[in-house]
This record gives sequence, C-alpha cells and structure tokens, in this order.
Amino acid sequence: MATKITKAVIPAAGLGTRFLPATKAMPKEMLPVVDKPAIQYVVEEAVNAGLTDVLMITGRNKNALENHFDRMTELEATLEQKGDTDRLHKVEYSNDLADMHYVRQGDPRGLGHAVLRAKMHVGQEPFAVLLGDDLIDERDVLLSRMLEEQISRNATVIALMEVDPAQSHMYGIATVEATDDDDVVRITGLVEKPAQGTAPSNLAIIGRYVLRPEIFEILERTDPGKGGEIQLTDALLEMAESDIAGGVYGVVFRGRRYDTGDRLDYIKAIVQLAVERDDLGPELRPWLQQFSATLD
Ligand code: G1P
Repeated sequence: MATKITKAVIPAAGLGTRFLPATKAMPKEMLPVVDKPAIQYVVEEAVNAGLTDVLMITGRNKNALENHFDRMTELEATLEQKGDTDRLHKVEYSNDLADMHYVRQGDPRGLGHAVLRAKMHVGQEPFAVLLGDDLIDERDVLLSRMLEEQISRNATVIALMEVDPAQSHMYGIATVEATDDDDVVRITGLVEKPAQGTAPSNLAIIGRYVLRPEIFEILERTDPGKGGEIQLTDALLEMAESDIAGGVYGVVFRGRRYDTGDRLDYIKAIVQLAVERDDLGPELRPWLQQFSATLD
C-alpha cells in the first residue's frame, strides 16, 4: 500500500570550502541567492510539493540554520513598530514554513552517510531528499511529479536531467530504459562521478530523490566509494540492480535548474533569478545589456 509522503530530508552539513572565507563561520546553505538564503528555496520547494516535515542533517555552524527557520522576536517587534509590514512578512514567512527538525551528521562521511542519519526520524515511510546546491525554478514541476510516480509505482524515484557530456564527471550518471511514460525511465545502472569521457550516458542525477525506507538497510552495508565516502548513488545502484523494493525509476526534468554549488554557477544563478524578478529585473536587464557590451 502506498503511503502519503510528508517528510523531507535536507543534507546541510557540507564544509562549503569552495566559498571560503564566506563560509568560515556560516554554513554555505545560508549564502543569499538574491535576497533569500539558498536553503529557504529548498525548504519552500518541499513545502510547495506538500511535504510538511523537514529534517536537516547539519554539521558545524548549525545555529544560523536553526535561527533562520525560527522566530526572531526582537527584529519582528522593531519592524512592527516601524509599520514595515512588507519586511515583517518576509521575516515571519520562514518561521512557520514547515515542522523543522535537526540532527547532526557527526563525521562527514558522505551523502549516503548523511541520509542514513535520517533513519530514526523517517521510520518506515518513503521520504524525499533535497540537496541544497540544486535549485529548481518554482514555476517548473519536479518534486510533485516524483511524489506522484513514487505513489503510483511504489518504488524509489530519482530526478535526472540531460547534462553537457563535459560536465558528467561532476554527477551521478544513470543508464536507463524507457517506460510507457515519456518523462519516466527505469534505472538499470548508476555510476558516481565517472572519469571524464567514461560516462555511460548524459543523464545526470540532480539533487532530488524520493526514497523508499529500504534504502537505510542498504546504506548501512554500503562501503565507502568515490572519494572514500559512503555514496547514496552506490546504494541506489544496488536497489536498481537487485530490484529491491520495486527498483528505481527516474523522472527526467526538462525545466529550469540553477546550480549554486560553485562560485561561478552561484553567480550565474543569482543573475538568472534576479533578471526574472519584477522588483529587480526591469532595472537589471538594461544594465546587464550595457555591461555585456563593454566586455570583449
Ligand atoms: C551529489 C550526488 C551526485 C549528484 C549530485 C547532484 O554530488 O552524489 O550523484 O549528481 O549531488 O547535485 P555532490 O554534488 O554533492 O558532490
């Protein structure tokens, strides 16, 4: 029997070394993308897809994350006194987005290890995992489509996207076979960050997963893989190959995705999102055009 999915797990324990020194005393998930921390986009995406319970797997500096999704009474009182209701709503909005929970990862032993830390909280239900480096445009549908597929197939579902072959060494790459649904494939193979030129396809895992709880038992016995880390991709490969708990399916996403994982992509994401905003776009667009004309 398919169960309604309510829980989202968000790994947020990375060291953020690519953004040092900005991330020296602050988690990289709190870096602003325009005027919202990256992590808030991800929590909003989970909530918009109907998930109500969010577990963050945190590391050091978790205070900023907890504070962001909590009341900030002094700030709220000041804004209220000033009658600045617009900003007050922005501050209050993140307080009650979801039922927030936090667990520390302890040793940073990889994404698979981070997800395994959710075992107690999640229990025996399917659950979603959202990685903070990938932002999905709220106008495009991905997570709710994946939840739908999870329910109808009662299997594990991951998000895939076609990437430039020159980039495939940065992702988990899938080998697939077609299904009757145009945007759904069955996963037959997975490889984590294949060496350049060796990727079996150009279908990359982007950071959204809807997992069946059987993944925990597999993760418990998954040996460290690529980079000496316990890889979620390796556990999913076992699930797919041995057809455990219905196997693994992929929803192929063709919408807008923004990568905030490294500095260059992060800058691009901010520009792309700002250009489309009603409050910033009208002034930013002509400025960008003028500015780009000065570049050779
Ligand atoms: C993780 C996963 C990888 C996936 C990627 C998506 O890698 O291990 O399979 O393709 O997220 O962003 P990371 O980028 O955290 O190293």
